[in-house]
Amino acid sequence: MGEAIVLPADDPQREQLERASWHVSARSFGAQLDVDRIESEGLGRLVTRADGAIRELRADDVDAVLTLDAATSGDYPGGVATRHDPLTPHSAAPSESRRAFGAFLADGELVAMTFVDVHGATAETDFTVVHPEWRRRGVATAVKAASILALSSEGVTRFRTGGSADNEAILRANATLGYVRDEEWITLTRESA
Ligand SMILES: CC(C)(COP(=O)(O)OP(=O)(O)OC[C@H]1O[C@@H](n2cnc3c(N)ncnc32)[C@H](O)[C@@H]1OP(=O)(O)O)[C@@H](O)C(=O)NCCC(=O)NCCS
Repeated sequence: MGEAIVLPADDPQREQLERASWHVSARSFGAQLDVDRIESEGLGRLVTRADGAIRELRADDVDAVLTLDAATSGDYPGGVATRHDPLTPHSAAPSESRRAFGAFLADGELVAMTFVDVHGATAETDFTVVHPEWRRRGVATAVKAASILALSSEGVTRFRTGGSADNEAILRANATLGYVRDEEWITLTRESA
């Protein structure tokens, strides 16, 4: 197993580590959307135009959440910095501080979800995922838009998100929603002897 260190991309230690055989194996980012940049009408259109009915997830959605997670937990790109740990019945359960929004087909199947941890006026996306058969139809953008609309109406003023900088789909979804990239990270890896 190799070792890994996650650092800001401009960290001065980077040069020294690269000279000592560490190499960049992944890049990741952080981004922020402040409430004054939110365009509610545009976000509302993203929600209504998407396939599937979008609503907040509840405690009784846990089985559907675990089923979708099990089908997709190997799909997250990137290394340790953007790893997605398979959900447990506890981490799959929405709560006051762990909110979740999903998209459902007419037959009730959950095909997309976004989980957001809320601390006071700040919301941080934990993960967003869409069933492989329902990707590239605006569903990820829509569930994220629904979460921003609901939480901003409850007083959240700062939305944070992040992920692999090589994940074009989530970068584009975030840009559409108004997120501004403000953190760049690298994962440095070295094979252990
Ligand atoms: C990332 C993910 C959630 C995107 O879901 P999605 O419903 O396909 O995304 P959307 O349809 O809303 O697309 C958003 C944008 O990305 C683009 N896009 C989607 N998939 C893409 C791909 N594979 N490559 C390049 N662009 C892609 C769309 O065209 C759209 O661009 P636009 O807004 O400029 O038109 C989905 O691919 C997924 O579940 N991946 C595995 C889990 C993951 O990586 N989650 C994100 C990190 S938490």
